[in-house]
Formats: sequence, C-alpha cells, structure tokens
Amino acid sequence: MKIAFVGKGGSGKTTLSALFIRHLAASGAPVVAVDADINQHLGAALGLDEEVAVGLPAMGARLPLIKDYLRGSNQRIASAATMIKTTPPGEGSRLLRVGENNPVYDACARPVELDGGDARLMVTGPFTEADLGVSCYHSKTGAVELCLNHLVDGRSEYVVVDMTAGSDSFASGMFTRFDMTFLVAEPTRKGVSVYRQYKDYARDFDVALKVVGNKVQGQDDIDFLRAEVGDDLLVTVGHSDWVRAMEKGRPPRFEHLEDANRRSLSALQAAADATYELRDWERYTRQMVHFHLKNANSWGNERTGADLAAQIDPGFVLGEGLVATA
Ligand SMILES: Nc1ncnc2c1ncn2[C@@H]1O[C@H](COP(=O)(O)OP(=O)(O)OP(=O)(O)O)[C@@H](O)[C@H]1O
Ligand SMILES: [Mg+2]
Repeated sequence: MKIAFVGKGGSGKTTLSALFIRHLAASGAPVVAVDADINQHLGAALGLDEEVAVGLPAMGARLPLIKDYLRGSNQRIASAATMIKTTPPGEGSRLLRVGENNPVYDACARPVELDGGDARLMVTGPFTEADLGVSCYHSKTGAVELCLNHLVDGRSEYVVVDMTAGSDSFASGMFTRFDMTFLVAEPTRKGVSVYRQYKDYARDFDVALKVVGNKVQGQDDIDFLRAEVGDDLLVTVGHSDWVRAMEKGRPPRFEHLEDANRRSLSALQAAADATYELRDWERYTRQMVHFHLKNANSWGNERTGADLAAQIDPGFVLGEGLVATA
C-alpha cells in the first residue's frame, strides 16, 4: 500500500508520517519510509541522531543507478540518460517489491530500529533551488516517482512517503501514485487552502484523499475543519506530549503514545487498507502513461533529444502478478 502525507509547511506531515510508520512497524508489517519533503526531517522524527540522519544516502544522487536497475533489459529505453522520472516500466523492466532485497534498497535504504519493529528509510536528499522547478529533469522527487511506478506492492505491506504538496508533484503525476493520500491540516484557513488546491488537482484522477486534522485543541477546531472539508475529514489529532518528549530527545517507548492518538493511527491504517479493494492496476498504468506523455511533450523530448513516447509499452500493465525480471 502506497501512502502519502502531504500538507502545508509545518502542519505536521513529518510528525504524523513518523507516528504512522512506527504504528505499522510495531504491527510487524514490512515498511519502507520515504522522506521526499523539502525539509528532510523524517529520519530525526524516527529517532535517528542528527549525524546519522544527514549521512543517509540521497536517492537524488543515485538516480543513474536507480534508472539502470529499473530499466533492466527494456528495449524501449535506450539508456539511463533518456529515462525521465515518468518513464513507465514495460517488458524487460525490473520491478520493486516492498519486502525484498534489491540493489536500489542496497544503495538508497537504511534500516531504522523502532520499538517493536523496524523500517527501511529512504531519503531524497536536501532540495536546492533548482529542484523546485515544475519540469525539472533532475528533480529529487523524480527518484521516488520512478520507484513508485516500478513498485508492485501487496496488501499489508507499506510504503509511506512524507512529501510536499508542491507544483512538482502535480506536474509530474506523483500525486496520483498513492492508494491513499493523507492531507495534514491545522484548523486554520491556510491549513485548509492546501486541501482545496489538492482536491482540485485530484478530482480528475480518482485520488483517494482524506484530511487529518492536526494540533486540534477542541470542539471549535473540529467544527471548523468539518465545515471546511466535510466528509473528507477522517480523524483529528491533538497536541501530543509523547511527540513533545521525543522532540526533547527523550523518546518514550511507542506503547506509551496517548490512547486517542493510537486510535487515530489505527483509523488511518484502516482507511488505507480499505483502498486495496479499489485498486485498479490498469488505471494506475494508464495514468502513468498520461503523465509521461505530458512530461515528454512539455520538456522531456527536447531535453533528451529522444521521442519519449516510444518508451511506452502498449501491452504492459503493472500488477502484483508480474514476475520481476532478473
Ligand atoms: N500532534 C502534535 N503534537 C505535538 N507537536 C506536534 C504535533 N504535530 C506537530 N507537532 C510539532 O510541530 C512542528 C512541525 O511539525 P512537522 O515538522 O511534523 O511539520 P511538517 O509539516 O513536516 O513541516 P515541514 O513543512 O517543515 O516539513 C514540530 O516541532 C512537531 O514536533
Ligand atoms: Mg516535514
């Protein structure tokens, strides 16, 4: 299951991603955690020391390796250099699985010990000005999008992405790559404005979007969010002393998280799990082709000097039944 946490800066994306990752890992499920946020804080929120967190291998710096591995023996992709972030898999491509070992995880993922379980952590690496352009060839999140487009994930295994709701994710199609998107919103007008924008983009692409109210202090906050986002409001989370203690560098054990917040995390998992029945790999593949053509026409063909539409394998549908090519 592919799950994104998005929202306004400072809303609590990283905090809630990290809590959700801990919750999943504690249940024994395989979890890949991905930090694709502009501010790279997921490692620290998962309890890594600052020196360890900044020393994590950056996916953005390992794009050639990622592309070469995923390209495999796909005849439609002439070289890693002509593979852009939206290049879809086809016959001969290598696919990724959540729980396996593969060269992409070897290069980019590191295990993180959590109470009662563990997770693999991957980080895009810090963003620079040049990464924030709409059609950026070297965009850091491009590495994540490529991996998501080559991932065949099943029930009860999770990829959780902490990401920014920026123009880059809308232009590339990244925002359509998830089974469930949790939009973290504080009960403020700014908090819900990001929701409106996301909802607008999501409308035409069957994106499952739910709002998680954060830093909610009382009934008035809940009423406000309900009035602004209606039934899209899934749960609300209040101030957490557990989170605050962790921020002070004194992390309590995860089983001591407040009951109300634990129930909220269970509700998030239930909502994400429920989308499994709605999965449609054909639609998923069609959308990746749609965004690939869009990116090819707007900048990719010109930048690579190739006709990137030819990378599309018309007979290929991504899906769990596919056997990864060695
Ligand atoms: N429910 C909560 N209880 C206590 N503190 C919280 C809660 N949610 C968020 N915070 C605190 O608010 C601050 C911002 O949260 P966080 O870093 O998760 O937001 P973000 O959306 O990831 O921000 P950025 O856009 O900078 O990446 C952090 O100091 C975090 O610990
Ligand atoms: Mg963050």
